Amino acid sequence: MGKYKFLEPYTFKNGVTVKNRIVIPPMTEQSSLEDGSVSRDETYYASLRSGGVGMFISPVAYVIRNGKGFEGQLSASDDKFIPSLAKMATAMKGNGGGTKAILQIFHAGRMSNSAILRGNQTESASAIAAPREGMETPRELTNDEIEEIIKAFGDATRRAILAGFDGVEIHGANTYLIQQFFSPNSNRRTDKWGGSVEKRMRFGLEIINIVKKTIDEYAKKPFILGYRISPEEIEEPGIRMEDTLQFIDKLADQPLDYLHISMGNAWRKSLNDKSEDRPTILRIKDQVKGRLPLISVGSIQTPADAEKIMDAGIDFAALGREYLREPRWIEKVENGLEDTIRYSVNRTELDNLGLNPALMDFLGILGLDLGFEGENKKTENGVDAVFKD
Ligand SMILES: Cc1cc2nc3c(=O)[nH]c(=O)nc-3n(C[C@H](O)[C@H](O)[C@H](O)COP(=O)(O)O)c2cc1C
Repeated sequence: MGKYKFLEPYTFKNGVTVKNRIVIPPMTEQSSLEDGSVSRDETYYASLRSGGVGMFISPVAYVIRNGKGFEGQLSASDDKFIPSLAKMATAMKGNGGGTKAILQIFHAGRMSNSAILRGNQTESASAIAAPREGMETPRELTNDEIEEIIKAFGDATRRAILAGFDGVEIHGANTYLIQQFFSPNSNRRTDKWGGSVEKRMRFGLEIINIVKKTIDEYAKKPFILGYRISPEEIEEPGIRMEDTLQFIDKLADQPLDYLHISMGNAWRKSLNDKSEDRPTILRIKDQVKGRLPLISVGSIQTPADAEKIMDAGIDFAALGREYLREPRWIEKVENGLEDTIRYSVNRTELDNLGLNPALMDFLGILGLDLGFEGENKKTENGVDAVFKD
């Protein structure tokens, strides 16, 4: 210990201490049962990776039926799923290992389709299809439906608390419904939910509000509340850094415990303004001015990569695909076994790593692979394009 700053604990404003600064970011494995209950594959996958890291954020769970975005997705949409969520929370906490388990919650909006929704039309801020091949045109949500979805985020939070999670992360990133309300591409409304940048912020802010109220009402001990955001879109019109920095400023004054900045490469610069020289994460950090801790993510793999994040004054480093390959990353670092950290896997090991075919298919759909031994493919590219951050 003592060798790396990322091994040091962090105490949130709410008093919760996280034992180190390494986070497993949310990764959908498409392995829940058809009804949205957690499967044994998922608890196995989580158990293999938990116990050592400070925080483990779950695969994203949908808060309401029409918010489902993937086959085999975890559900937090009904009280009947509380026992299922409890199994996931236990596995993610490392069976007593002290990892904080966070449930990520969302509504997919226009990024779903009528097959996943079993015949229902997708829904979004406005009736505009995502500008990608094969995407369906959603239905514009009514005011009452918007209120119902906001309430569903509160209900999902109550379920997370009752299931024993240590926190929730509101998924405001990666082009899903909350981002769709913020984006001038998907939100063309002229009522209180759209128009000016302030009005486009409203949906996300109201969700924070109801989630916080739910925590105050139901949590018997301090409960972590995080928010994930994608800084930019490349579509025209689309989210630009100017709007994002304004939103970040607002978010930094909300009752949140952390902000999670979703990018394919933690150090990337603006996707749109090529004259901007500073990495986006540092511009966001300047805007936040220490009001909230930040999680940085994107192609962080080695201990040196994670330490570079700490050196820049960012509070947490999340390792996604690297944690698929190397479930014992942090234990190896703690024991001085950095040399044995794996940066590629052998296809014959997938079962042992808890990486089932559904997850491998999903990676394939994302155009990603894990770096297979003997197969000369890079893993760094792709996530930016996929998550359109
Ligand atoms: C298989 C897979 C599933 C993902 N699922 C989610 C998800 O459910 N929610 C989310 O916010 N991001 C999701 N992401 C994005 C990751 O959280 C992370 O931001 C991204 O993989 C970049 O980090 P990395 O370079 O360390 O992998 C997923 C990524 C992968 C590879």
